[in-house]
Amino acid sequence: MEIKSIGIVGAGQMGNGIAHVMALAGYDVMLNDINQETLTAAMETMTRNMDRQVSREKISADAQKDALGRIITTTTLTDLGQTDLVIEAATERETVKQAIFEDLIPHLKPNTILTSNTSSISITRLASRTDRPERFMGFHFMNPVPVMKLVELIRGIATDEETYAACKAVVDRLDKTAASAEDFPGFIVNRILMPMINEAVYTLYEGVGNVQSIDSSMKLGANHPMGPLELADFIGLDTCLAIMNVLHDGLADTKYRPCPLLTKYVEAGWLGRKTQRGFYDYR
Ligand code: CAA
Repeated sequence: MEIKSIGIVGAGQMGNGIAHVMALAGYDVMLNDINQETLTAAMETMTRNMDRQVSREKISADAQKDALGRIITTTTLTDLGQTDLVIEAATERETVKQAIFEDLIPHLKPNTILTSNTSSISITRLASRTDRPERFMGFHFMNPVPVMKLVELIRGIATDEETYAACKAVVDRLDKTAASAEDFPGFIVNRILMPMINEAVYTLYEGVGNVQSIDSSMKLGANHPMGPLELADFIGLDTCLAIMNVLHDGLADTKYRPCPLLTKYVEAGWLGRKTQRGFYDYR
């Protein structure tokens, strides 16, 4: 099955990045959000990020114009009904995602593939509550989407091979690399990345190092592009905590217990860059 049009639910940080790369790859994109201001901000962000790519000669001005022209924004979820592939990139809450699927499914074509950009919710469980568990899978992009080369493709227990192959072909066309993952808590990237970030928070909590020494140790000593605390601020401390809780609950091992300092920051509303305060102060 050839995918020509893509519906994206949620126009936040991940949703607008996904729309950006899909449109540049030549797909027709229908970008949905409940909030018109979020859609307007998403178009501005994509324009700005593509301007940067044009100025660095990664893409041409014509490619930018064509790509932006391929994106239609809508606050009406059912407008996604005729697309070939839907990627849900809404808030990372299971009830929100389920409600979206329930509203959308009656309007979808029978063969439309339904996917979620979830970073940690069970694909099998999400799929089981739809009418098409065999045509459902995880389509997990990394942030910032236009830059990061990886997409995790997660098979639910019922996902069929045709669905996997169709999604893999999309990833290939984006010129990104697909990593095939089985549906267990955190999949691959977050199963490895989040305990590292959590351990960095423990290192701070126990006074082994301060924010600067921890981050520069991993940047200069392990060649990471960002230190783990800077990266946690970039991802969002609430997201990091939520993923640690999924690992802790789902794998039932104390090695995944979230650091109390991470919990405390989240309780304070210090969620990282998005609230201007996390391990660093961005005000
Ligand atoms: N859109 C388009 N291009 C962008 C961009 C964006 N949003 N952000 C950065 N870029 C481009 C820049 O234009 C630049 O391009 P050139 O190489 O052509 O010059 C390049 O990316 C590097 O950007 P900068 O020079 O501005 O900054 P940098 O060198 O410090 O790199 C970074 C920024 C790419 C974010 C880098 O710090 C990095 O790779 N950090 C780690 C990111 C990471 O680990 N992401 C995964 C998070 S985990 C996740 O997403 C999964 C989850 O479920 C939580």
